[in-house]
Amino acid sequence: MNFPLVRHRRLRQSAGIRSMVRETVLNVQDLVQPIFVTYGTNIKNEISSMPGVYHFSLDTLKNEVDNIASLGIPAVLLFGIPETKDSMGSSGFAEDGIVQEATRLIKEWYPELLVIADTCLCEFTDHGHCGMVHTFERDGHIHGDVLNDESLELLVQTAVSQAKAGADIIAPSNMMDGFVQAIRGGLDEAGFQNIPIMSYSVKYASAFYGPFREAADSAPQFGDRKTYQMDPANAREALREAESDVLEGADMLMVKPALAYLDIMRMIKDQFDLPLVAYNVSGEYSMVKAAAQQGWINEKAIVQEMLTGMKRAGADIIITYFAKDVAGWINEK
Ligand code: PBG
Repeated sequence: MNFPLVRHRRLRQSAGIRSMVRETVLNVQDLVQPIFVTYGTNIKNEISSMPGVYHFSLDTLKNEVDNIASLGIPAVLLFGIPETKDSMGSSGFAEDGIVQEATRLIKEWYPELLVIADTCLCEFTDHGHCGMVHTFERDGHIHGDVLNDESLELLVQTAVSQAKAGADIIAPSNMMDGFVQAIRGGLDEAGFQNIPIMSYSVKYASAFYGPFREAADSAPQFGDRKTYQMDPANAREALREAESDVLEGADMLMVKPALAYLDIMRMIKDQFDLPLVAYNVSGEYSMVKAAAQQGWINEKAIVQEMLTGMKRAGADIIITYFAKDVAGWINEK
């Protein structure tokens, strides 16, 4: 008998065969493009730590959304930079809040394009935390507790105002306990029984959000988010977080960040039957961009390899600042 009998290379010998046996394929329909919207006119300001990502005012937004829609990307995720901030984050749930205004416009321009609203308060609070804060001074420093149940009421108001403006999907990212149940109840009561909740179920307290906090101007003014976001060292706790969201009525589960948490994604996918979302976060984007600008890596190849890895790990949907690029590459083929 000839040796070797088994030749793995038979299925790798041509592009045709490789594509025939490929297990994981990225599709444009898998992608969600995040967008940062702000007040003012004629604004298209690049975020310095995220080359190629911009703040758009409502008048320059049209062009960007035209581009996203023409690429066939099915959904955008909106983040807002408000004019004013206060302790309650009231511009997050104002009827004329920036996210609400942008949502109405996008739905008018493209009724079919899905608008996902990030439901959180950190972009709208003056202290930069994701909920209401009780502050106190100790040893000359300001400390604060993020109040869970009091924050839920504000988050429900935020979600309902986003749905009223036309958001198709509510994506709560605040990591308060009970947020899915509270928001589900609030949406149902307001007549939005059919608006799905894409829960940021498993969200780690991650340094990979650094560039986003510049982009969204949402860095906490004291302390950190470790009392509400998860410890990066924990995996079993992710199952508990996801399970409570499932019981509370979540329609989709998210793992965030993506790259350093592919094991978590696989675990959640194997355990639960809901669609799984990966959030390829700002720091993951910035690292690739920085290396690409130096000419150290092949950006196009690296990005597709990373996103394929997320899908292979179980992601059905990928939120990524690379969505437009990836859609363009897929459409080219
Ligand atoms: C709001 C929110 C954050 C991100 C998405 N929603 C920031 C945070 O929790 O500090 C991060 C997204 C990214 O880094 O791309 N809570």
